[in-house]
Amino acid sequence: MKIAIGSDHGGYRLKVYLKSLLEELGYEVIDVGCQSESSVDYPDFASLVCESVLTDKAGAGILVCGTGIGMSMAANRQPGIRAALCHNEYTARMSREHNDANVLCLGERVLGTGLAESIVRTWLQTTFAAGRHVTRIEKFDK
Ligand code: RB5
Repeated sequence: MKIAIGSDHGGYRLKVYLKSLLEELGYEVIDVGCQSESSVDYPDFASLVCESVLTDKAGAGILVCGTGIGMSMAANRQPGIRAALCHNEYTARMSREHNDANVLCLGERVLGTGLAESIVRTWLQTTFAAGRHVTRIEKFDK
């Protein structure tokens, strides 16, 4: 599976770390930027990752900013994107099982790299439970 990853300056270092992790795990990574810690606007990178997911260039997306909040707000404005801001393995697992999240949002200033890695591993390993959750998703994701 291909994974699109993007960040702003506040998430740049964690994005670099996660990109290496994903490549080690055998994923093909589409890195939409940014490419330094110089100040940029997070919605620009949220749009690029969402576009990759919505056009099936990537099977999933990961967005990192300082808190993960701006990225999740921007990503969730795009119809068809179900972006989940996760702070632990439990929310990562549930965002896949119950919400079929297709974008994971993380905050570099909130998480250590160990926890962020564990969240990403959990999120990628968990599948959608479907069943009653399909009806619920269809109520907002048309
Ligand atoms: C950038 O300073 C910061 O506002 C951004 O990375 C993010 O946390 C916004 O939600």
